Amino acid sequence: MHTPTAFVIEAGRFIPENWIDVIFNPSFPYRLVHMVLAAYLTTAFVVGAVAAWHLLKNRTSEPARIMFRMAVLMAAVVAPIQIVAGDQHGLNTQEYQPAKVAAMEGHFETHRGAPLILFGWPDREAGETRYALEIPKAGSLILKHSLEGEVVGLDHFARADWPNVPIVFWSFRIMVGIGFLMLLYGLVGAVLAGRRRLFEKPLYLRWAVLMGPTGFLAILSGWFVSEIGRQPYVVYGLMRTSEAASPIGAPGVAASLFGFFVIYMIVFGAGTYYLLRLMKRPPDTTAHHPASEGPIRTGHPKTSVTGSWTAMVFDLPTIWAGIICIALLAYVLFDGFDLGIGILFPLGRDKEERDLMMNSVAPIWDGNQTWLVLGGGGLFAAFPLAYSILLTAFYAPLILMLLALVLRGVAFEFRFRSEHARTRRLWDLAFIGGSGLATFTQGLMVGAFV
Ligand code: HEM
Repeated sequence: MHTPTAFVIEAGRFIPENWIDVIFNPSFPYRLVHMVLAAYLTTAFVVGAVAAWHLLKNRTSEPARIMFRMAVLMAAVVAPIQIVAGDQHGLNTQEYQPAKVAAMEGHFETHRGAPLILFGWPDREAGETRYALEIPKAGSLILKHSLEGEVVGLDHFARADWPNVPIVFWSFRIMVGIGFLMLLYGLVGAVLAGRRRLFEKPLYLRWAVLMGPTGFLAILSGWFVSEIGRQPYVVYGLMRTSEAASPIGAPGVAASLFGFFVIYMIVFGAGTYYLLRLMKRPPDTTAHHPASEGPIRTGHPKTSVTGSWTAMVFDLPTIWAGIICIALLAYVLFDGFDLGIGILFPLGRDKEERDLMMNSVAPIWDGNQTWLVLGGGGLFAAFPLAYSILLTAFYAPLILMLLALVLRGVAFEFRFRSEHARTRRLWDLAFIGGSGLATFTQGLMVGAFV
């Protein structure tokens, strides 16, 4: 979407020519490396903050020392690599999405010997960055590796093709600022460790606690730069976001957005609550080994605060059971609608009516499968024993159901591509059969279970 490659456009449709080239497109290696390093750094800073918090209470805790040492080492090694990777990523973006880089840098005018604008307020209307604090010629040096190199500004592009400059400009500064703070943190930590005083400085430990959430903030800012910076395009340079919007009414979009919001608040709220409780507990090297004590459960009763009502309700398996139930309920409601369309499909009077039926679910049907994946994945992760028993017992209907769902999915894609009425009828049959079979096998499993 950012650097589209290996496709042709036929009758207004993107047809991939080579899937390998589509995936390994020119910005892929930069994005992959930058994102993986971002994930490592974010984890290191959370681990470091938790360890520092416990060390502030008990400086001799050996597990907390191990955690802290590892986190600081990770920051000291990965932060400089991330800065180099970010710089390379920026050079690649300059080649393929120059308007995004101009917005990141706050450059409205194309000029040689461009300054590096550290701070300022990009004013879209006036076409200039006001109150700019800048280093002369440094912009050209960084982007062109020459003091007089020409840096392309936003004036090179039609105004209708500009992204939201202030958001991109400031998100970029937050991300890069955090990157340099992480570097400083790693360097100070390395010096303290060299002097064998890593755990002795309360100020450094407090700083480590404060740095805990910065990885998340940098990642979010990075995504803001990336995604807001590519506007107004959804497929860069080829398809505008406004052209990609589905013709679904605002109330429909608002209702599903609200549904996602509520469900994600429950899922993330419960996850965050449980994680914070885990972090509060002092680290323990004599970790409990589940294999020694009966069925494997993610949250063991021993690890929760027993005796209170909240402990019982917020036990991890209870939370997971809730998540799985919500996912299954959402699947039944949402995919039930899709499957119903498939079953009623033969009742469509003519091709137009059947097209309409299929189009009513085409933009959302695959999103609805996510709930099934969340339910199945949750069962696998939280209740592996139940998963193994259920999967073995329902092996045949489950596989049939999955095959039927695949058949339906393929029918969606190919029906619209078939040029002859005969092949279209075949895909109609696949859609009807897949929907019917998936529903039937689901009924079989629920019947057997109940
Ligand atoms: C300090 C120096 C850094 C530089 C120079 C830098 C550079 C960049 C650039 C140029 C982009 C936008 C690329 C594009 O969309 O075309 C970007 C995106 C991003 N950055 Fe950074 N970054 C830095 C630090 C960080 C840090 C510390 C993190 C997280 C811990 C981070 C996480 C991200 C993420 C998640 C994205 C979006 C990834 C993508 O769309 O591929 N960055 N960064």
